[in-house]
Amino acid sequence: MLYTSAASLSLQTHLVDTPDDGGDTLTSVNDNGFLMPNLPDAPGIQGVRSVKIRDDDIMFCAFPKSGTHWVFEITRELLTGEIIEDDVTMTQTFMEYVHEEKYADLQSPRILNSHLLMKHLPEDVLNKKIKVITVLRNPKDVAVSFYNFLKTVPFAKYKGEWKNFLRPLFQGKFLYGSWMDYVIDWEQVKKTNPDLPVLTLFYEDMKQDQMREMRRICEFLGVERTDDFLSKVCDNTTLAAMRTHKNRENNRSSVFRKGGVGDWKNWFTVAQNEWFDQLYQEKMAGCHLQFKFTL
Ligand code: A3P
Repeated sequence: MLYTSAASLSLQTHLVDTPDDGGDTLTSVNDNGFLMPNLPDAPGIQGVRSVKIRDDDIMFCAFPKSGTHWVFEITRELLTGEIIEDDVTMTQTFMEYVHEEKYADLQSPRILNSHLLMKHLPEDVLNKKIKVITVLRNPKDVAVSFYNFLKTVPFAKYKGEWKNFLRPLFQGKFLYGSWMDYVIDWEQVKKTNPDLPVLTLFYEDMKQDQMREMRRICEFLGVERTDDFLSKVCDNTTLAAMRTHKNRENNRSSVFRKGGVGDWKNWFTVAQNEWFDQLYQEKMAGCHLQFKFTL
């Protein structure tokens, strides 16, 4: 079933206004138990599940605000071997955002995008063992980035203050649920599907040494690129360059915001930081991933 508007949503799908700790509400869509952005005419989880996967599709998965636009562009240029200055972004193949027919005719290999969990993706992602790239970012910077994003996008209808945002965010009350649940779920997917080719990238590593991380991507994709080319990709994917090229699509100032590591220190109060660190220890105790909160 393709949803055409919020008014035609199925019984399993309804709008939710979740209050933050100050009573300001953030709007999302409950799509069969999972909170999604309230976007008109979006395919929804059912639409995503039915997408036809090609053997050579590459699946790009990340929690929102983990640097998807940036790493997608890097990957696209490494894959094609071209320095591209167009305004195409990951939204072109954002599966829960655009209908399949819009990207069904794209030339192979396609890079598909989603912020969803593996269980929401088409079964053929696992069956065909297509290449999967996951991008992770430290959750404190994700939270700050998400707050600034959600305050500016009309679909969230959110006017709340930062001090009231953090707790419900990490309790999974806003769209896409909890960052911790997302990360743990993907770690579980990797563990239970050891033959699924998955490349895990960290935003902070990319900031620290983009050349090294791009070589990892090339190896994973099975492409050879010269250092000269890699250096040109670096120049073409700086925040400033991407702001220039991608801003033509629409106003994307909240997507290309600061682009750093450690901005959370300008936002987290001591009390918020202590609360978060405690929660992180509890929830992520069994997770071996090491996140860098500063560089
Ligand atoms: P900040 O809000 O912390 O600045 P996503 O693409 O997943 O929505 O993530 C958006 C975050 O990635 C934003 O973080 C944004 O500034 C950052 N970002 C976007 N393009 C970038 C680039 N070329 N280099 C570094 N960071 C970038």
